[in-house]
Amino acid sequence: MADNLPGKVALITGASKGIGRATAIAFAKEGYSVVINFKSDLKSAQATLKECNRHSGRNMLVKADVSKEREVRAMLGRVKKQFRHLDILVNNAGIFDEHDGPTNTKAFENIYRNNFLSCVLVTKHALPLMRTGKIVNVSSVHARLGHGRPKAIAYAAFKAALESYTKNLAKALAPCILVNAVAPGRVATAMWGNPGATEQRKLGKDHLIKRMIQPEEIAEGIVFLVKNDAVCGEVLTIDGGMSLVTLG
Ligand SMILES: NC(=O)c1ccc[n+]([C@@H]2O[C@H](COP(=O)([O-])OP(=O)(O)OC[C@H]3O[C@@H](n4cnc5c(N)ncnc54)[C@H](OP(=O)(O)O)[C@@H]3O)[C@@H](O)[C@H]2O)c1
Repeated sequence: MADNLPGKVALITGASKGIGRATAIAFAKEGYSVVINFKSDLKSAQATLKECNRHSGRNMLVKADVSKEREVRAMLGRVKKQFRHLDILVNNAGIFDEHDGPTNTKAFENIYRNNFLSCVLVTKHALPLMRTGKIVNVSSVHARLGHGRPKAIAYAAFKAALESYTKNLAKALAPCILVNAVAPGRVATAMWGNPGATEQRKLGKDHLIKRMIQPEEIAEGIVFLVKNDAVCGEVLTIDGGMSLVTLG
């Protein structure tokens, strides 16, 4: 267990799997006590906790649907009771809605609640516990890709909103709390159906690096943003060169 950061606490939303799981483990390796939030997959969340416990102490699981303010308030209540404070917030939890489309207002509402309002709610209830610290929001390269994707129109719109929120929140909270975001390309997670090697090769073709990105590579970027004290209001793109490809 690394002991360079005694008593530091990081809350990672959506940490039962994918990018959130990799990020929780990365923070445990840095010596943080990690609050592992999840919505429904207890078994996977427990596996994340077990791995975190190999590296740091006082890690905890909190089941909460971050799109619901009552559950978010209760989650931060538990964090307060256990630690009294919070150093790091990673707003990572998010969904992809198969029914996303240009006029599907139900999908817009669903994605708004799960990918955008959720971040605002968690931030609202986390801030009273954060005198200083860092917030990292997990956006997507789709917030800015010029070629668009009609089947992810709401997803792209609310990730763009999250990047705007990130920048304005950074202005509001600096210098005590620094706020940044990461914008991943295609990451091999459950969101893509946990692709095997062949599928990953296919999906990775749109990246200049010709492979999918691994969750640990996004976690590394998040840890960098937390360690660095000069980056403020920035969006770190980790997309294997995907955005360059779309420029032709
Ligand atoms: N994968 C990609 O290619 C990619 C690219 C760009 C950006 N992203 C973004 O990265 C983030 C993580 O994606 P991922 O690929 O790691 O997804 P994932 O493997 O599908 O994992 C999603 C995580 O979010 C949790 N979650 C979903 N809705 C929640 C809610 N309302 N409350 C609490 N937890 C919730 C899930 O919990 P349960 O398992 O308990 O349900 C799970 O832990 C998302 O914001 C996504 O938009 C992903």
